[in-house]
This record gives sequence, structure tokens and C-alpha cells, in this order.
Amino acid sequence: MSESDQNYKKYLSLLYDKAAPTYDRVGPRFFSYFGRRLVEMSGLHGGAFILDVGCGRGATLFLVAERVGRSGSVIGVDLSQIMVQETAREIEHLGLGNAQVRHMDAKALEFPDSCFDFIFCGFALFLFSDLDQVLSEFLRVLKPKGMFLASVFGKKLDKRWDGFRRLVRAYRNHLRPVPKVDTPTLFDVVQLEEILSNAEFVNIKVVNEEKEFRYRDEKEWWATEWSCGNRSLFERMEPSALEKFREEALETVRGLKGEEGIPILLQMLLARASKPQSVNRSIIHSS
Ligand SMILES: C[S@@+](CC[C@H](N)C(=O)[O-])C[C@H]1O[C@@H](n2cnc3c(N)ncnc32)[C@H](O)[C@@H]1O
Repeated sequence: MSESDQNYKKYLSLLYDKAAPTYDRVGPRFFSYFGRRLVEMSGLHGGAFILDVGCGRGATLFLVAERVGRSGSVIGVDLSQIMVQETAREIEHLGLGNAQVRHMDAKALEFPDSCFDFIFCGFALFLFSDLDQVLSEFLRVLKPKGMFLASVFGKKLDKRWDGFRRLVRAYRNHLRPVPKVDTPTLFDVVQLEEILSNAEFVNIKVVNEEKEFRYRDEKEWWATEWSCGNRSLFERMEPSALEKFREEALETVRGLKGEEGIPILLQMLLARASKPQSVNRSIIHSS
């Protein structure tokens, strides 16, 4: 692994270690909402063997465990040790005998070829430094005709939040650089279809979903930002700039408040695709 890859991996696992304790447990819980939508789109059946890559705090994993019943099972993997610990604790607490979670990099899955019926990957594709390699790992461990389900953020942004985005841009000179990758952060339908098709998935279907969520108030919004990957923006700011930014951001976001809280429209893409009956071996990277 190159030095820049190692730095990126370290940066990412630390970022999500810090987010893990409150991840998807404060605010409108949109990860749980879209996790449910992804499971609904899968047509999951009892008895299936499932992998959830970048499982986080189990937005899809818990529902999948419930749906596959006792004759099926699900393994979640995540790069963040703390995500793994928190989710393992919850699995134990809920007494889920058919779910487990392991610390693992999506790039090098420690599973034999052709063993899973389904792979889920909620909001993680844009974090992979080498998306082609990860998708070829997914193809390798999926059974022929096995199904892949993924969610990503769409490119459509809520215009009501333009003021906040302008504020972020105004602070860009106060941001410490962090390791970056070439993988896009936001996707459109055609682009995601092309990525999956180039990776040799078939029967590809990508749907656009929009949903409005509400923060109770600006404090809940701020806590939600710190509970997910968005916290990287704040962590990169010089402390004196962060204090000023916080005040201005809270004021801007407070200005969006209506009778039922602070609305935000999120656009997500949900993708479903299958592994073909036989795959051209040259596209499966050997690890
Ligand atoms: C935005 S969160 C999504 C979590 C969950 N799937 C959900 O929908 O709420 C992305 C997760 O992917 C994990 N992750 C990032 N890169 C990874 C990699 N290379 N291998 C495994 N997990 C990774 C992060 O640690 C984080 O928990």
C-alpha cells in the first residue's frame, strides 16, 4: 500500500472512530431511513448470507439481520475500530445470534470467493480510495447472480442551504489540508450506472430518492454534523476560526427555522445490481 493510501486510511478510520459514539443516534437519523430504503429495494429473502461493507452503526445491518431470520446471517465490516466495537455491543445487547461485525478494509475482504448472496454498502463508495478495486472485491466474494446494493449522496443540493455553503467557502483559507482521494463525493444516476457497468455488474438499476428531514433546532444540527463524516470540516479549522465559524453557522442555520424545525432536503441514489453468472476474470484483482 502506498504511503498516501496509508495516510488516507489512518485519517478516515480516526475520523469515523470519533464520530462512532453518536453516529446516526442524534438528529433526524437519515442514515437509518435510507438504510431501510436500501433493504426494501433488495428483495432480501430468509436464509441469505449477507455482507454489509462500511456497516457503521448498523443502519442496514440490524434490519437485514431481522429480515434474513435464523436461517440466514449477516457480517458487517468496517475500517473504524470504534464503529465495530459500538455495533458489536449493540448486537450483543439485542441478542442477535445471526449478526456479527469485524474490523476489515473493503479493499481486502477476508472471505473466500463466491460466498455471499447479497452485499450492502450504504454511504461508503465515495470513501474508497480505489473504487475499481473495491468493486472487484465485491464481485469476487459475491455468488454468481448475487446482488449488490449501494447508496450514495446525489448532486442535487437544497438551495435553502446556499447561505451556509457560502459561509463554508468564506472559511476555506482556514482549513488544514487532509488526505484526499479522486473518487467523487456526489453522484448522478448515469455516472453511478456507468461505474457499476464498467465493473461488470449487470441488471443495474439506480433510483433517485429525495426526502425532507428536520432538525429540531440549530443545536441539534450542530450535534448531528459532529456525529458523522461532516465533522472533518470543523476538525480542519484553526480553533480561533472554528469558534467564529460556529457562531456564524448557528445564526445562518437558525434563519432556516420554520414552525416545525429546520428543514433539509436530501437527495440520495439507491443502486441495485447483480453479479453475472460468469465474470471476466481479468477484472477481478488478485489480492
Ligand atoms: C458514512 S458511514 C456509513 C455507515 C453505514 N453504512 C450507514 O449507512 O449508516 C461510512 C462508513 O464506512 C466505513 N469505511 C470507510 N472506508 C472503509 C473501508 N475502506 N473499509 C471498510 N469500511 C470503511 C467508515 O468507517 C464508516 O463507518
